Amino acid sequence: MKLYKSMRIQKKIMNIEKLNYKIKVIDDFLEKEDYEKIKKLKIHTSSNKKFAIYHGKIVGDKILESSIDNNLLLSLNKYHDKAINILKELCPEKVKLYDYSDFVIIVTNKNARFPFHDDTPNKLLSGVIYIHPEQNKGTIFSNDKKGKEKKTISWKQNRAVFFSRRERETWHAYEGDGINNRLALVYNLNSNRIKEVYKAEKKNYFFGNLRYKINPYIFKFFNFTI
Ligand SMILES: [Fe+2]
Repeated sequence: MKLYKSMRIQKKIMNIEKLNYKIKVIDDFLEKEDYEKIKKLKIHTSSNKKFAIYHGKIVGDKILESSIDNNLLLSLNKYHDKAINILKELCPEKVKLYDYSDFVIIVTNKNARFPFHDDTPNKLLSGVIYIHPEQNKGTIFSNDKKGKEKKTISWKQNRAVFFSRRERETWHAYEGDGINNRLALVYNLNSNRIKEVYKAEKKNYFFGNLRYKINPYIFKFFNFTI
């Protein structure tokens, strides 16, 4: 029994290593007060839509647009230095391209699924913080679009999961667990300088950009990307 358990743990670690990109998992990411504020929004109970979205765009103390309470958005942006440091660790060459931050409070319906995607190039750092309920399904990562050798980060309240997007590499998906709606806070550091992003990734801007223009699956649900 003991041996079986240790083999299982080993397998888990190996699975993370199989991914071709780095993921940073940080438990207790938000201060208790901020975490509670989002949790208490109680919007998860009222949503029957596939995805319910509240979005805020901010740089420093300047709110660029928001459907999130202004004070909450301002208090969330105090994690900026922490996020920049994570980006420094995951992809230092993109730090200089930072222009603004996106915060998205997103309720995923218990039966909804967002398919594998690699994230749009405007995202330098992609992050999600699991909020509510106590049990649900975390983010699913893979090396390919089909989810071969996928690795699911386990859901834990106030756990943050970060990665730095790379074209056709950072494949990920998420879904409800079929039991409860899933409340999460998405935290992205973004850029407006898409050409320079492709340069930093050593990828082709023309084909990359075209790909998002002709196949904007993620814009089907939202007028911005998560
Ligand atoms: Fe994503």
